[in-house]
Amino acid sequence: PRIVVLASGNGSNFEAIVKAQREGKLRAEILMLIVNKECFAIERAKRLGISYRKLSKDWKEKLFELLEKLNPDLVVLAGFMKILPPNIVNKWKIVNIHPSLLPAFKGKDAIKQAYEYGVKVTGITIHYVDEGVDTGPIIFQHAINIDGMSLEKVEEEIHKIEHKYYPIIIDKILND
Ligand code: GRF
Repeated sequence: PRIVVLASGNGSNFEAIVKAQREGKLRAEILMLIVNKECFAIERAKRLGISYRKLSKDWKEKLFELLEKLNPDLVVLAGFMKILPPNIVNKWKIVNIHPSLLPAFKGKDAIKQAYEYGVKVTGITIHYVDEGVDTGPIIFQHAINIDGMSLEKVEEEIHKIEHKYYPIIIDKILND
């Protein structure tokens, strides 16, 4: 199976996916990283030797054309900060990872939202993407206890479990 990864930021999940693939833990071909702006994920793609494309204006049309050309089995969102249009959502199988236990704390800065709310347990959600923001059928969740942790520590722990589970779940979706 063949995947493409979409990102807008740091790209640590993208890198975790590439590394898992190279360690044989993710059975998939990573066709391309697609970003919608200048971001550190590009730097990671260069270092890792993965081809990338940066879309800017007309990104919706360009992304549709690119996906048609690449024809991936799965589109993986990894910190992609744009809402995908219906024609893309309805045509491809797409997954997203969100750093909270949905449906709590949708949207931006979810780790901080949860932390500031004072929750004692938070976690990550991997879900299929529909036309909403952080909605769509849940595939996987993992919870962690954050009682007494600093925000920095919570962020670190959340990213750790993201990097651990996202590749595993993508592999399951593609190969089970
Ligand atoms: C992750 O926390 C992910 O859950 C959210 O955006 C962040 C992306 O981080 N959707 P990175 O760019 O993979 O480092």
